[in-house]
Amino acid sequence: MPSFDFQVDKNDLSTHRLIHPLPASLSAGQVRLSIERFALTANNITYGVAGDMIGYWQFFPAENNWGRIPVWGVATVAESNCDDIEAGTRFYGYYPMSSELVVEPARINERGFVDASKHREALPPTYNQYAVLSDANGYTDGKDNHQMLYRPLFTTAFVLDDFFMDNAFFGAESIMLSSASSKTSFGFAFMLKQSGKVKVIGLTSKGNIGFVESLGLYDEVVTYDDIEDLSTDTTTAFVDMAGNREVLGRIHHHFEDKLVYSCGVGITHWDSREGADPSSLPGAKPAMFFAPSQIQKRHKDWGAATFQDKLTSAWNAFLERVDQWVNIRENTCPESLAAVFEEVRNGASPDEGIVLVNED
Ligand SMILES: NC(=O)c1ccc[n+]([C@@H]2O[C@H](COP(=O)([O-])OP(=O)(O)OC[C@H]3O[C@@H](n4cnc5c(N)ncnc54)[C@H](OP(=O)(O)O)[C@@H]3O)[C@@H](O)[C@H]2O)c1
Repeated sequence: MPSFDFQVDKNDLSTHRLIHPLPASLSAGQVRLSIERFALTANNITYGVAGDMIGYWQFFPAENNWGRIPVWGVATVAESNCDDIEAGTRFYGYYPMSSELVVEPARINERGFVDASKHREALPPTYNQYAVLSDANGYTDGKDNHQMLYRPLFTTAFVLDDFFMDNAFFGAESIMLSSASSKTSFGFAFMLKQSGKVKVIGLTSKGNIGFVESLGLYDEVVTYDDIEDLSTDTTTAFVDMAGNREVLGRIHHHFEDKLVYSCGVGITHWDSREGADPSSLPGAKPAMFFAPSQIQKRHKDWGAATFQDKLTSAWNAFLERVDQWVNIRENTCPESLAAVFEEVRNGASPDEGIVLVNED
């Protein structure tokens, strides 16, 4: 495969370039991972939009104003200068949209390693981990695409569900999710439906309402245009995957004190960030959801192994259903990359999950 690297202008994600760098030379202890494939969803666009705020640009630095958006993918060890990492081993983790990544493995065990490269030291540990694709790590053979596409999003959905359960839904009788067509939202709706403790309302755009209804996971589905038609008879919580300030304002003004909880999770509507200051809105004060805090709490409450068992069991149930809803589409990299990136940036069809496969 010819080497390539896809980079975006950090201030304007519509400007991007494909470059063909020479393979980096390996120092002692380093490993060259040849990237096989990776998934691309709105979540990755959010990494780019929030790159400065959350530090996403620091994972894979680039020169000047160029940035490398992280993606979840699978890679094989092509060359190893590290005694404990064998060539040919496959790892799941965080990669740039590139042909290769050079890492410096540390804390190596049979489950995987952590990249100890200097520029990643200050970044959240979860994102520096590379996991062997093995049974012990909960991976199913032949499910690489599902792993990359859904696992990071479903983990957030699982933790959101647990967070609401743990807090008795903040007293809400209904829970409302924006960007109901997104994989993170419908993963959360999947979990909520199983416990059946609250009514689940999905908010989506006109073009995606058919898809959201067809999932059968939401008790009620409405478009953003019809928010004001929603009943305010019951107490409601809002989980915001869209980050659309205009929608947020309308929800708070419509529900007022009946809105007992409001939290931001995503910004799929990255170009609709203008609107009233969230802290000035009526109803519950909008909060930011931070999955690692709830994970840490559950590690304390239950132990890490029990948390992992519960997540794996929910994940397996989700895996059994998800192909009924979304078709995984593979495109070849690097030639399709720029077009597919634009497709996802502008809002790809929710009934497709996109995986980019690097040419041999
Ligand atoms: N905080 C966390 O820990 C965490 C973890 C996981 C995900 N997230 C966030 O959750 C969000 C969903 O991610 P995902 O990967 O699940 O999304 P996805 O499946 O790719 O979602 C696609 C949906 O997002 C909306 N959308 C996407 N691009 C749009 C655009 N340009 N204009 C308008 N709407 C657009 C559309 O939904 P509608 O028409 O239904 O609005 C679309 O169907 C992301 O913002 C992601 O960063 C956060």
